[in-house]
Order: sequence, then structure tokens, then C-alpha cells
Amino acid sequence: MKVITLITSSNKHGNSKKIVDRLTIGIEDAGGSNEVLFMDDYNIKYCTGCRSCKNGGGCVLDDDFNMIMDKVRDADYFIFTAPIFYNDIAGHSKMFLDRFGSLGNDINLEMKEKKSLLMITHFSDYINDFVIKNTHRVIVSANFKVNKILDIGGLLTKRFTEDELESFEDIGYELEDYEVIPHELDLDSATV
Ligand SMILES: Cc1cc2nc3c(=O)[nH]c(=O)nc-3n(C[C@H](O)[C@H](O)[C@H](O)COP(=O)(O)O)c2cc1C
Repeated sequence: MKVITLITSSNKHGNSKKIVDRLTIGIEDAGGSNEVLFMDDYNIKYCTGCRSCKNGGGCVLDDDFNMIMDKVRDADYFIFTAPIFYNDIAGHSKMFLDRFGSLGNDINLEMKEKKSLLMITHFSDYINDFVIKNTHRVIVSANFKVNKILDIGGLLTKRFTEDELESFEDIGYELEDYEVIPHELDLDSATV
């Protein structure tokens, strides 16, 4: 199984990367591969809301978004990771997801049948459930299936034990087997 991971945290040695490294071990143990991309290494502009994508053909912005999504399209599984900043996913993480409108509006670009894992990391023990549900909804709006959600909190003081880190390897190993998770927000009412 070919996996593409996009880490939207700028911290190349942060919690997201630590966990992704263990997911990768599990994915590779199961015979797959995981190409890990840091959003920071790419030129990603924010959605201008020009609505050109509504006519098909993808996003008209000249940056690395289409190239990254081509890689995702060529893979079997997409892992998207976002840190929480001020009780929501970070601005740059949201900036990437805002571009998903161009995928949901073109049958040639859409990610139908593509499985995905959403990982959110934060210092607090819990975050508002809406943040998870809404981020899940945005990913589904681009026609991904979301098969696993990792909501990993308590990271201000937490030091992962080796057992906990190994549990991420298990998740990587079993990635292909997770059933699709139904989204809980009404897409029709909020997605144009
Ligand atoms: C500007 C900023 C705001 C943050 N706001 C929150 C917050 O509201 N709630 C929280 O639990 N963690 C918050 N955090 C902590 C990050 O979510 C946490 O460090 C996360 O694990 C970062 O992921 P990374 O290590 O992969 O970069 C904030 C961090 C920064 C830098």
C-alpha cells in the first residue's frame, strides 16, 4: 500500500513527526511505503475564492498544491496531520484544506475511494468535538473516505512511553483494514 503523508506542522521534530515515524514503521512492516511531505517545504497559496474550479480543471493557482494532490491521487492512502492552534486546526493547515474545493468540483480530480487518516495533535487533554467533525467533513467534501482519526492530546506534559509509540506502529500496520468512519456534519447544508 502506497501512503502519502502531509505534515502541516512546521516543526520537523514535533509530535506529528514523532507519531508519523511510528506509523511509517507499521506501514513498512505491512509491506507498504509512506512518503512524508512537510507543507513548509512547498509553496502553497491560500484559496482566493475565485471559483474558477467550479468549471472543472482544478485549482488555477500556480503553486505546489496540484502537484501534491497528484501524488496523493497516485497513492492508496492519504495521511493529513494538523496541530491545534488556539482551539482550532492551525491556519496553515486550514489553508491547505480550503483548497480542497477544487477537488470536490471536478470528477477527474476527485479522490473517490481514496482512504485517509486525519491526525490532530494538541497540548490540552481535549479539544472541541466540532473541530474534529468539521475537519473530517472538509476532507470528505473532496470525496476522500476517512478511515481513521487520531486525536492526540495531553501533549504539553506528555512523554510517550515505548508501548504508546508501538501502538502507532500497530495502527500503521493495520491502516488498510480500518472501515470508513461516517461523517457527522450535514455536508449539503454547508458545502458549496
Ligand atoms: C500558536 C500556538 C497555539 C496553540 N494553541 C493551542 C491550543 O489552543 N490548544 C492546545 O491544546 N494546544 C495548542 N498549541 C499546542 C500545539 O497544538 C501542540 O504543540 C501540537 O502538538 C503541535 O504539533 P507539532 O509538535 O507536530 O508541531 C498551540 C501551539 C502554538 C504554537
